[in-house]
Amino acid sequence: MATLEATQRQAFRRQLLRWFDRYARDLPWRHTSDPYSIWVSEIMLQQTQVVTVERYYHRFLDRFPDVQSLASASEEDVLLLWEGLGYYRRARSMHRAAKQIVELFDGRFPNKFSDVRSLPGIGKYTAGAILSIALDQRHPILEANTIRLFSRLLGYRGDPLDREGQQLLWQFADQILPRKKVGRFNQALMEVGSLVCLPHDPQCHACPVRGTCKAFESGLQATIPSHKKKISYESLHEAAVIVRRGNKVLLRRCRSDERWAGLWDFPRFEITSKGAANRQSELRRKTEELTGIDISLAQNITTIKHGVTRYRITLECYAARYVAHKHRQRRSTQKWVSWSALSDYPLSVTGRKISRLKGPIFATQQPKS
Ligand code: ADE
Repeated sequence: MATLEATQRQAFRRQLLRWFDRYARDLPWRHTSDPYSIWVSEIMLQQTQVVTVERYYHRFLDRFPDVQSLASASEEDVLLLWEGLGYYRRARSMHRAAKQIVELFDGRFPNKFSDVRSLPGIGKYTAGAILSIALDQRHPILEANTIRLFSRLLGYRGDPLDREGQQLLWQFADQILPRKKVGRFNQALMEVGSLVCLPHDPQCHACPVRGTCKAFESGLQATIPSHKKKISYESLHEAAVIVRRGNKVLLRRCRSDERWAGLWDFPRFEITSKGAANRQSELRRKTEELTGIDISLAQNITTIKHGVTRYRITLECYAARYVAHKHRQRRSTQKWVSWSALSDYPLSVTGRKISRLKGPIFATQQPKS
């Protein structure tokens, strides 16, 4: 197995920690050793950049300062504070995990690895990160930054994401751990990965551990790690219908099997028809299927282009008026909401964009009766 000698490992730890003392960013979650706060930061940092998380972290902790306050909140309140961070499954899992911590661990964040790991939304990386950073427990970590850093250090040319690559890198993450200051060490690894060992333009001249880097030694930084398969994007064509009734509009809460599960949105569905007349009948039919409500002629107000995970969505937005209730919708929750109250609801990203378009929607003509 590719590895480092014991003396190299010692030099690596020393150089890395010295560099971290000097260059670590002053990030809000680095001022605490409270496992709950570290948990919040680690969940937010999954798939989200540090600069974005910085804007959300304090706001979330001000509102939910401990496990109890999170567990007793409504899912809607949790999602409202998460709105804009994306990947809402993270927030729903945290909310469920908080309830479990209250039930099973008396409201105290557990300090045993297997207990932390058993909570919804917490995998091997997150459990290791929380317990090492908060309590200095000796657990390895492996996430996007450390995968890149370790692959280069070891000169590993295989795919770091397949079984063999993962096994090798987890083993390395474990071997390289010091006995003390494990939390600082793990954070320093991620910090070098995100500030120095960059994906496309690694700053090897500024790297504290280039002396032990096989990729640097052989000039292979640009080809390691081997590039994973390209994501294949799928185009989707959808419509959102803003149904107006007096000075209120119709919102529906997305079901758990929908993309924006738990969030509120304007009625929304895929569209396939060609031509204006066919489009009108499709909008009317699908709005009724989804909400039980018959609408008048819909006017196109704008089109939003939007990317979510592997989808590239073109969303045509229509303003329409309520005509009649055709049937009750049992499987979903919907509400008539005044425009100014939209800020009280956690909305999908596009729902929030539409909520900023009051002018064009309320300017549509009242149909003659
Ligand atoms: N990415 C994930 N966790 C992180 C942390 N604690 N510091 C910096 N980047 C991170």
